[in-house]
Parts: sequence; structure tokens; C-alpha cells
Amino acid sequence: MKDVNQNKLNSENIHSFLNIDKNLKVNLEIFDQIDSTNSYLLNKKQAVNELNVCIAEMQTKGKGRSGKIWESPKEKNIYLSIGSVLDKEISELDGFSIFIALMICDALKDLYKIKAKIKWPNDLYLENKKFGGILIETKMVNKKLSIVIGIGLNIFMKTNEFINQEWTSLYIEKPFLEIDRNILISKIISEISNNLNYFLEKGFKAFKKDFDKRNILKNKKVLVSNFSSSDCTALDVNEDGSLNLLVDNLKQKVTSGEVSLKIQK
Ligand code: BTN
Repeated sequence: MKDVNQNKLNSENIHSFLNIDKNLKVNLEIFDQIDSTNSYLLNKKQAVNELNVCIAEMQTKGKGRSGKIWESPKEKNIYLSIGSVLDKEISELDGFSIFIALMICDALKDLYKIKAKIKWPNDLYLENKKFGGILIETKMVNKKLSIVIGIGLNIFMKTNEFINQEWTSLYIEKPFLEIDRNILISKIISEISNNLNYFLEKGFKAFKKDFDKRNILKNKKVLVSNFSSSDCTALDVNEDGSLNLLVDNLKQKVTSGEVSLKIQK
């Protein structure tokens, strides 16, 4: 991969590559350093029919799921948050994080022919290692749902002593690819924006077939937090975005907020 660390994040470039409805206003802010792009947008006033985008070259308090830290070294990766206001209840957004993961996979496939997998409900995998994650945060403001979609993708990172699980980056897997983060960010924003209304109208079931092709957990033995049994196999995902597990030969359904899963070696 040509070292395109090189191409710093640039607002004009990102705007120029966007391919979205011209009536949609995109407010884009780029920071050299921030605590967390998600926290920043959560505290910002948002409006319907607008996308607020916050990107940073580094985060000092990058947030992962379950209160974990998201390693966010300078100029190595993508730390992207997209915020908006939706006319929906949170309960109507089943499978939303899988939808976002699919949009990222589509962007990677279209731009670089990369075939990424998804570990339910929102981790991105290449060669059985995690290279990206999604953290969705919401709050109610004036009876409307303010939503922030946080996306972290390891791009040029070659080493990181602080990550305590197997991980990878696009550079590690595809060293000859030329990646400009500005183009990839634009493509991800465009994919999400162009498919969001369809998701809000039809729900996850309209995307289930696409997800099935990328479901890395299917038929894998997994360790499930909160479950004492180690005889757990992940099956498929339902139209409401929940996951079926086979636990001691009994089928059980779990939702993304309830559990976290590890693939058994
Ligand atoms: C995970 O644990 O897999 C989710 C990681 C999400 C990280 C991203 S980086 C941009 C945004 N800002 C944050 O503080 N977290 C998300």
C-alpha cells in the first residue's frame, strides 16, 4: 500500500467525493485531535434532514462498545461519526448496526474489491481478525431521536501494543492497495445516506440476505458472556436482527444489547 498517511483528512476532498442527494445538508468537521468524535456529536444540536459528520486524526478518549477504549493513534486510521435526527423510536431500529456494517462492506467492495465479513452485531473482520467496529449512541431531544453512528476502521496501523485481542488493518491485509481515507470516508457516508430511508422504511429484513453472505459467526462455536455453557454455536440472524444460538442443543434467540460473543478457537 502506498503510504497515503500522506493524504491528511481534508474537508474539500471529502465533500467533492460525496455522491448523495443534493438537498441533504452535510455539516462536516475535521479535528486534528478530539476526545471522541461520538461524544462531540452527542453534545451537538442536530436537526432532521441534516447529516453532521465529525472526523478526527486522533482521539484521546475513543470509545468502544461495553465501555472499552478504542485505540485511536494519530493519522493511522479512520475515526468517523455521523449524526442525525430520526423520526423513529429506538425500538424501531432493530438491526441498525448490522445495516451500517453492511454499508461499510459495500464501500470497501466497490472501491477496493475487499471482501469483509461481519461479526454480529457490528464488528468488521478480514482474515478472521477484527479491523473495524461500530458504536451507535442515541439520546432523545425534544421527543426526537438524536442518533450518532461511530465508525472506527484500522487503515494504516501496523503495530499497537495496547489492543488486547487479535486485530488487523487494511494495510496489514492488503499492503499493495492505495487507500485515501478521504475517498473511503466519502463513500461510507454516501452509502449510508443513500440507503438510510430504505432501511427506515423496510427494516433489517430487506438487508438480511446481504448480511447472510457476510456472517462470519454462522455455524461457529462461540463463547457467550452471561452464559455458563461453553457448548454454544452461532446460527443465523433473524429478520429483527437478533441472533439464533444453539446452546446445549437448545435454540435460543439473543439481541445485541444482551450479550457479547467470542469465536472459540
Ligand atoms: C467497537 O468497540 O467495536 C466500537 C468501536 C467504535 C469506535 C469509533 S471511532 C469513531 C467513534 N468515536 C468513538 O469514540 N468511538 C467511535
